[in-house]
Amino acid sequence: MKDQQRVFSGIQPSGDIHIGNYLGAIKKWVELTATHECVYCVVDDHAITVDYDVKQLPSRTFEGVLTTMACGLDPDRCALFVQSHVPEHTELTWLFNTVTPLGSLFRMTQFKDKARNALQRALDKKQGGARKTALHELRRTGMGALALCDELRIDLEALNPDATADNPMALQEQVMRINDRMGTILQQLQVGLGVADASCGLFDYPVLQAADILLYKASLVPVGEDQEQHLELCREVAERFNRKFGPVFPMATRIKGEAPRILGLDGNQKMSKSLDNYIGVLDEKDRIISRLKPAFTDPARLRRDDPGHPEVCNIYSLHKLFSDGATCARIDEECRRGTIGCFDCKNQLATAIDTHLAPIRERADHLRAHPSIVLEALATGRDRAGQLAGETMREVRDAMGIGPQALNRL
Ligand code: TYM
Repeated sequence: MKDQQRVFSGIQPSGDIHIGNYLGAIKKWVELTATHECVYCVVDDHAITVDYDVKQLPSRTFEGVLTTMACGLDPDRCALFVQSHVPEHTELTWLFNTVTPLGSLFRMTQFKDKARNALQRALDKKQGGARKTALHELRRTGMGALALCDELRIDLEALNPDATADNPMALQEQVMRINDRMGTILQQLQVGLGVADASCGLFDYPVLQAADILLYKASLVPVGEDQEQHLELCREVAERFNRKFGPVFPMATRIKGEAPRILGLDGNQKMSKSLDNYIGVLDEKDRIISRLKPAFTDPARLRRDDPGHPEVCNIYSLHKLFSDGATCARIDEECRRGTIGCFDCKNQLATAIDTHLAPIRERADHLRAHPSIVLEALATGRDRAGQLAGETMREVRDAMGIGPQALNRL
């Protein structure tokens, strides 16, 4: 008898699936299929919120599904599908948009990060005169915003909330002027943040994620630490919907994986597909070695015999995830005494990671040679997901007074 609570999670087809995805989420996805009803998907509608290659997307989506199966996900024990194959995800997003406050979306750090990275890339592409023009524009809008701030200050100082309104029309004008100035300042500052060029889809990304989860009334979500803020928004959306239209949705909580936040090989940002600081779960041993070679280690170790501090070394933290206890204890001691160099330590890590990943690579090769296994799994997964999604949407439309049923009841 399986637990009553439903599980949902997703992964973007935006690049190679890496060991952060695997240990932060997918391994847990696999475990949960033994005890819960699980719904998992490759979220292509999310992947198109940033610049992407249309020709490459279908094969990336297929590879994403194939890799999760190679990581041990058995499609007979869960519903595995592609997000855009179940259109109710985007329908529910629109309905959720009507209860989601803009302010909550502006707080999302991932949106700000992605918008900033896009601005950075756009600036990097510009050379010479074009770059100067872009910087002048940034300075001009920033200065414009500052001048408006001065005008806003004068208006705000003139506003006395405690005074009795002798002239309601004048007060209304004053308030509207303050509001307009605030809006203009916000708009200009967004240009500075790189937000103005980001798509509405990127801004709305967390609402689509809330729709993914709540479409299946899932309350357990196995994801890494980086998704916590999105889950908070999901709970806020569910709460607001339930308050306005009746109790339809559960509150979703995060289930922690084995490693909630794996650091990238650059040693300062989380391991990420877009930052190219990762080891892919399908990487061959040679590639693992070459990826590890320049990886950041303990900065105190300049020479091979300098005593090290494994507790601050990212390579050691990966050893703890991939090497056995005895190996970790030995490396800890040798590093502290300065009898093992970072090069050897990395080579031993490469062997340990390769041993872990070899069976995953083998299963991936088998699935690639038999694509019909993947496509059939997706068709079955889509049917199951579509059935659950249809049930929730009927209830949602009823609760909100939309859809043909609402008119039939007149
Ligand atoms: P995505 O594709 O970035 O990552 C997939 C999963 O991997 C986890 N993860 C990590 N865990 C530990 N260390 C890391 N360095 C690391 N990098 C990534 C992520 O937390 C995630 O669990 N927005 C989501 C996809 C999504 C989703 C959903 C997830 C869309 N709808 C609904 C859950 C529920 C994302 O971009 O994941």
